[in-house]
Amino acid sequence: MTGSTDSSIAIGIDIGGTGIKGAIVNTETGELLSDRIKLDTPEGGKPKDVVGTVEKLLAQLTDAPADAPIGIDFPAVVQNGKTMSAANVSKKWIGLEAEKLFEDALQRDITFVNDADAAGYAEVRYGAAKGKNGLIIMTTLGTGIGTAIIYNGVLIPNAELGHIQIDGGDYEHKASYAAKERDDLNWVQWAARLQTYYAELEKLLWPDLFIVGGGVSKSYQEFLPKISINTPMVPATLRNNAGILGAASLALEPKVLPNANQLVGEPGESAVSLT
Ligand code: BGC
Repeated sequence: MTGSTDSSIAIGIDIGGTGIKGAIVNTETGELLSDRIKLDTPEGGKPKDVVGTVEKLLAQLTDAPADAPIGIDFPAVVQNGKTMSAANVSKKWIGLEAEKLFEDALQRDITFVNDADAAGYAEVRYGAAKGKNGLIIMTTLGTGIGTAIIYNGVLIPNAELGHIQIDGGDYEHKASYAAKERDDLNWVQWAARLQTYYAELEKLLWPDLFIVGGGVSKSYQEFLPKISINTPMVPATLRNNAGILGAASLALEPKVLPNANQLVGEPGESAVSLT
């Protein structure tokens, strides 16, 4: 690591079920300033092993300024630094002081956020909804369904809209990309489930825009045109880098992440907007 710091440089690390990715980011422009390093998520995804892999990954970002802020995202609810759920990860994360665990191991402060929140924030800041205001909902279709709510550039953290109950069941199990694979659905069959899902979200939240992300969004032409709702829907554009970019960016902007430990400013002071 080098010593000098530019105040717009941060490190983003995106923890997923199969891989942990990281890079140095110019948070002004949303460009990666290093290669993207990807290491396998350790078998079983236990906290200690995951922390060890993140340490290894950081050691490989040799050009990172020594004091660059670090943002890490994770596929669970993250409330005040604690992981509060574990839909698709080891149950050992539930109730864990995860942010502190990383900070103790890395010997520095980090910003720790939900994976879909990071990806959604990145799409609004640098990608599919750059510069757009209003109520934007990001959905990531992968092993689970991740969601992020961003209103006028402010992230409302930990929306877990992948787990809404439809027909008496957690709809993530029906409409995620993993469900498509598991149930061997063709695009038409999967799009029918997505139709039900997005129509329900639309009815509950009346967003101005849906962004559809996750690895499968590169094939958006196969399923997005088959979904018919009133809200505009656009594919995510940042693809595999969204989590890295969002985590890095949030590491420098605690004001858009209004959780109880990080509230700043006086009552009545307006929140930060992107425009
Ligand atoms: C989890 C979310 C996560 C999403 C995508 C869901 O199962 O509950 O916290 O954002 O998967 O990884």
